[in-house]
Amino acid sequence: MRIPGMTAATIAAACGLVLALFSGAAAPAAPAAAAPSTLKEAAQTTGRYFGGIMSTNSLANGTATSLAAREFDMITPENEMKWDTTEPNQGDFHYDRGDAIVDWARSQGMRVRGHTLVWYSPDADSQLPAWVKQLPLDQVRAAMENHVTELVSHYKGKLYAWDVVNEPFNDDGTYRNSVFHQAMGRDYIAHALRAARAADPDVKLYLNDYGIEGDNTAKSNAMYDLVKWLKDEGVPLDGVGFESHFQVGQLPHGIQSNMKRFADLGVDVAVTEYDNRMPVTDPQTQRPVNPGDLNQQATDTASVVSACLNTARCVGVSQWAVGDADNWVPHSFPGQGSATLFDVGYAPKPAYHAALNALGGGGGTQPQPWGRWNTADEIRGVNSP
Ligand code: XIL
Repeated sequence: MRIPGMTAATIAAACGLVLALFSGAAAPAAPAAAAPSTLKEAAQTTGRYFGGIMSTNSLANGTATSLAAREFDMITPENEMKWDTTEPNQGDFHYDRGDAIVDWARSQGMRVRGHTLVWYSPDADSQLPAWVKQLPLDQVRAAMENHVTELVSHYKGKLYAWDVVNEPFNDDGTYRNSVFHQAMGRDYIAHALRAARAADPDVKLYLNDYGIEGDNTAKSNAMYDLVKWLKDEGVPLDGVGFESHFQVGQLPHGIQSNMKRFADLGVDVAVTEYDNRMPVTDPQTQRPVNPGDLNQQATDTASVVSACLNTARCVGVSQWAVGDADNWVPHSFPGQGSATLFDVGYAPKPAYHAALNALGGGGGTQPQPWGRWNTADEIRGVNSP
């Protein structure tokens, strides 16, 4: 018999249902929603994001891009929007590298944090070009405002946030003696924020620094006072980024209460550059490591994620890498490494599962055997999970 509009399969399904009803079997309960199995999906259930970085190099690495697209929903370009790349000579603007990352991220449905507009940059990095440092002081403000205006205008409507001023403080809480501070005192921060707001009224404007994650330290108090002053003056400012470059077992005291006191000033907060380094024997493989350090890294990571979850205005957590393979630590902290949630073969580490669990997720990509990171034998098989 052929019933119009019904396929054999629907007929069979209908018969099965009738049979089940007649046999008195209970209708199957709706399956419980599965716990999210990626960092971004788990973060989204809390109204937050989970992010990472992207670089020109990693963009050419299919393993890195597919892992990032699976796990992250926020991307920060690692170096591609910094001053040396975007305006290496005065008035000579280059956006190709930044654009490539923004276009890729947006094509994957990810948001982007712009990084960064005004940064003193440590001399070793020279990511602030020499021409800026050599300007007569009475020309610095115009050059800075022009740089901010050009970049924010170029990316208008495409970014979630900008780190407008990066790392304004020394560790003792005094202002860094940058060319910007020499020219304008702390007012340079207000001028940069106002220029950014004028160029894009919608992008969120952040100050970003490291060593400000703990409650009541000289440096975090200095940032607190700066934010308070800017708010009192009516300067546009939406958020404070806590970089969070940590060492295993040495989380600063009072991360959560510190987030809260900033949020209480009327700004969003975010963990912007999380990594958590440990001693490694070989900088290439970033192994072997002490298994106790991997455990501690997992515990620390859960604490950092939980501090954000427990702070209503904490919008998300980003780590400063796709994985260990493209993290800056082995280059910048000799003898240290293994600082991220994924190993040099992009396999998830215990810290990944700790982050996922803290976010309320479960499962996730296959846990890796512990020996993978701490035996010499494993080093050879680094790219084969
Ligand atoms: C680092 C990059 O990861 C390196 O590739 C580069 O050589 C130096 O800068 N704080 C920041 C980031 O705000 O921009 C820095 O990124 C890490 C510390």
